[in-house]
Amino acid sequence: MNAMVAAAAAAAVVLIFASGGVECRSREGRIAESFEYSAISCRGHSASIVEFGGVGDGKTLNTAAFRRAVDELSKHASDGGAQLFVPAGKWLTGSFNLTSHFTLYLHKDAILLASQDIKSWGVVDPLPSYGHGRDTAGGRYISLIFGTNLTDVVITGENGTIDGQGGVWWQQFHKKKLKYTRPYLIEIMHSHKIQISNLTLLNSPSWNVHPVYTSDIIIQGITILAPVTSPNTDGINPDSCTSTRIEDTYIVSGDDCIAVKSGWDEYGIKYGMPTKHLIIRRLTCISPYSAAIALGSEMSGGIEDVRAEDVTAIRTESGVRIKTAVGRGGYVRDIYVKGMSLHTMKWVFWMTGNYGSHADTHYDPNALPEIKGINYRDVVAENVTMAARLEGISGDPFTGICMSNVTIGMAKKAKKYPWTCSEVEGVTSGVVPPPCSLLPNKGRDKRAMCDFPTDTLPIDDLELQKCSYVKNYL
Ligand SMILES: *[C@@H]1O[C@H](CO)[C@@H](O)[C@H](O)[C@H]1NC(C)=O
Ligand SMILES: *[C@@H]1O[C@H](CO)[C@@H](O)[C@H](O)[C@H]1NC(C)=O
Ligand SMILES: *[C@@H]1O[C@H](CO)[C@@H](O)[C@H](O)[C@H]1NC(C)=O
Ligand SMILES: *[C@@H]1O[C@H](CO)[C@@H](O)[C@H](O)[C@H]1NC(C)=O
Ligand SMILES: *[C@@H]1O[C@H](CO)[C@@H](O)[C@H](O)[C@H]1NC(C)=O
Ligand SMILES: *[C@@H]1O[C@H](CO)[C@@H](O)[C@H](O)[C@H]1NC(C)=O
Repeated sequence: MNAMVAAAAAAAVVLIFASGGVECRSREGRIAESFEYSAISCRGHSASIVEFGGVGDGKTLNTAAFRRAVDELSKHASDGGAQLFVPAGKWLTGSFNLTSHFTLYLHKDAILLASQDIKSWGVVDPLPSYGHGRDTAGGRYISLIFGTNLTDVVITGENGTIDGQGGVWWQQFHKKKLKYTRPYLIEIMHSHKIQISNLTLLNSPSWNVHPVYTSDIIIQGITILAPVTSPNTDGINPDSCTSTRIEDTYIVSGDDCIAVKSGWDEYGIKYGMPTKHLIIRRLTCISPYSAAIALGSEMSGGIEDVRAEDVTAIRTESGVRIKTAVGRGGYVRDIYVKGMSLHTMKWVFWMTGNYGSHADTHYDPNALPEIKGINYRDVVAENVTMAARLEGISGDPFTGICMSNVTIGMAKKAKKYPWTCSEVEGVTSGVVPPPCSLLPNKGRDKRAMCDFPTDTLPIDDLELQKCSYVKNYL
């Protein structure tokens, strides 16, 4: 080997390392693979799905292999934990459950393909805070990747893919042929310390990522793609969760990019578990029929202390939207939004007090939601049809609304009156075009007068470690 070839070979190895992994074939034909990644915990044991009989040909059903792998690796929970590696390939699978102290790691060219055989999907109970499934009254098809009562779980990769192949579900849903509520791609219930990062999620049958009754969640570097006309393909739905950090996500979907929830009507009120201490940073959203961030409509356990920063939305119906109704009870309070860049929007600000959509007819007509302390600042929008549509509830106004440093460029075909407001109270400063009379200008200049907390939340201090995966096999 002459010097130039050696240098080129060394450079190639360095390049492969820089992209996160390396694969090399030694003289004996053994394959060594190694990866480095960031995670809340590293693991003492490693295995590949191939060791459990997995076949990545896009045809072989791997449900049993995944279930066997998780069962087997769960034995290491109290002994350093385990990581399951999914190599490049197409891995057709039905639903499988996760275990504690466990990492699922997807190679960049690994694609998990969800089985399209609806009959083979198991069914679980409705969520106690909802009382019903969201599509139908009874049970729910279990999510593709499901976990409950777990601690310390990581689902990550180098942007590997989980494809829900949702087309068949969307069709059956539209034809009203489904017996149960559609599955989600990932659902984690009653759990603690969860990381979901560096993955691409495609074509979920319904919601994509649903952490519920869970705390200390990091969701980072996720790309979510679904047709903008697909039904209920919400991106990320933190639901009755405490301490969640969602960062660097890119979402194109048929429903809200992030939908913050906490249970439905009388069931959510009774369960009484709020979503609180939620951080959202650097979200990019495209969702022509929905919001970049929705609060509700199921918010009966309460939503409080939400901090959203650096939100970009393109061809999206509205920015940060509040959806509620009489009968929901609960509250949405202490919401802080700073830095939105919005392009081609129907409404920049939208609050709805008559969302309807009840679990059943037994909701309490006296259960009024409290909407209070909603702060928006540093917003630039262009090509907007209406600046705001703010509709509180008669006898239950939405209060403490603050908007400052907001510049909205109206579309050529904009409505004549850019603001409609009823049953809302608040103040504004430096907002263009000038707001409705219910939100009087109280500031002298464009200075951001609306609050945004300066303290840090404990979830910001949860540090990621450098972990690695090294495997030699014949
Ligand atoms: C995600 O990937 C990026 C770029 O490869 C890397 O810098 C980051 O540490 C990863 N984060 C997580 C949480 O996996
Ligand atoms: C997965 O968990 C759910 C809920 O606990 C359970 O109903 C189901 O049987 C589990 N599936 C497997 C394969 O263990
Ligand atoms: C999971 O945790 C919830 C809430 O703590 C509890 O009600 C439920 O019984 C637990 N389920 C299992 C299978 O341990
Ligand atoms: C991950 O893959 C998706 C889909 O191919 C792509 O759009 C996105 O840019 C990728 N993200 C990163 C960080 O490479
Ligand atoms: C107003 O908002 C813009 C971004 O939308 C920001 O660059 C600017 O610093 C803000 N001005 C003040 C006074 O905070
Ligand atoms: C402005 O918005 C309209 C829809 O309201 C859209 O058709 C048009 O392409 C947008 N223009 C630009 C320059 O983005």
